[in-house]
Amino acid sequence: TEGPPPTPVAAVSQYACQRRTTIENNNKIFTDAFEVLAESYEFSELEGPCLAFRRAASVLKSLPMAVPCLAATQGLPCLGEHTKAVMEEILRYGRAFEVEKTLSDERYQTLKLFTSVFGVGPKTAEKWYRRGLRSFSDILAEPSIQLNQMQQSGFLHYEDISRAVSKAEARALGNIIDEAVHAITPDGILALTGGFRRGKEFGHDVDFIVTTPELGMETSLIPIIINRLTRQGILLYCDYQASTFDKSKLPCHRFEAMDHFAKCFLILRLEGSQVEGGLNSAEGDSRDWRAVRVDLVSPPMDRYAFALLGWTGSRQFERDLRRFARMERGMLLDNHALYDKTKKEFLAATTERDIFAHLGLEYIEPWQRNA
Ligand code: CTP
Ligand code: MN
Ligand code: MN
Ligand code: MN
Repeated sequence: TEGPPPTPVAAVSQYACQRRTTIENNNKIFTDAFEVLAESYEFSELEGPCLAFRRAASVLKSLPMAVPCLAATQGLPCLGEHTKAVMEEILRYGRAFEVEKTLSDERYQTLKLFTSVFGVGPKTAEKWYRRGLRSFSDILAEPSIQLNQMQQSGFLHYEDISRAVSKAEARALGNIIDEAVHAITPDGILALTGGFRRGKEFGHDVDFIVTTPELGMETSLIPIIINRLTRQGILLYCDYQASTFDKSKLPCHRFEAMDHFAKCFLILRLEGSQVEGGLNSAEGDSRDWRAVRVDLVSPPMDRYAFALLGWTGSRQFERDLRRFARMERGMLLDNHALYDKTKKEFLAATTERDIFAHLGLEYIEPWQRNA
């Protein structure tokens, strides 16, 4: 009566950096629900449950098929009682009460709306909410509110920058930045990073690394590019942050959310004529241009691999790389360096593969990092 032993299935790792996650998500009904709850916990500054739902979503995104029933989640990591209860409801009724309740919650809706503005984080959104403000017109009509430059641009270009950036638009922007970099220095280096490097069809912005082989020269690159974009009349907004990178201050005790490389957060004017197949513009919009968010970061060449790995994402993939390094290898990883706490030494890398190898991880391709 005993059948053949079940085929052993490789266990799913609790770390996203040990999973291959493409843009194909077979469990969107669950992961969308988890994202709503995670975001709601984030608004309430409940980091634990927020992270728990993000980790659970990430595990489900890595699966080659849709979860058909709760029994199929047996052996999967990062799925606790709460997440399983939500999944069970979705499996039974197609939706979960807690998610529905959150989506119709005034506070959630308002914070979600406010944080959708470029330059508005959860702190500011919360402050406005507590003052009784509920809509954009409430904010703009409130005389005591002083919007900073970033928020003013966020409102000004709200429609354009809330609309997804297409691959063709990302390519056109790549051409513009590439031209700028190479006009400055023929051996300049430009690399696409962020979601588009992971193979995403659409993004909320386009991320690039720009640098030069000569150490130290990279710090002047972004200011010159900004100058050029200004003269071309296509710079709509620029938040430039000069480098605060200091080798002597490494390693950082904890991973830092922000790295110290020179960078800028831009809004550029993209002409329709520059985009193959035309702009991804709103219905009924007759303009032949749109505003697009672009990020540039400029690491020194000896940090290139760390910066590329750090800026390629996804955010969950990065979090788990760092957690894996710390918990499983006694190493500290950030966008600048990898430090071995046992050997008390930095591990150099010229490619992403070098970093995975130092960590004793199988290489994961950029398009498999959509955790
Ligand atoms: N990043 C970073 N430091 C910043 C900003 C971003 O290290 N100051 C990293 C993030 O951790 C992320 C990557 O850069 O892994 C890209 O960030 P972002 O553009 O916000 O997200 P994408 O994955 O590109 O997704 P989207 O399509 O929404 O832009
Ligand atoms: Mn925001
Ligand atoms: Mn991006
Ligand atoms: Mn970005």
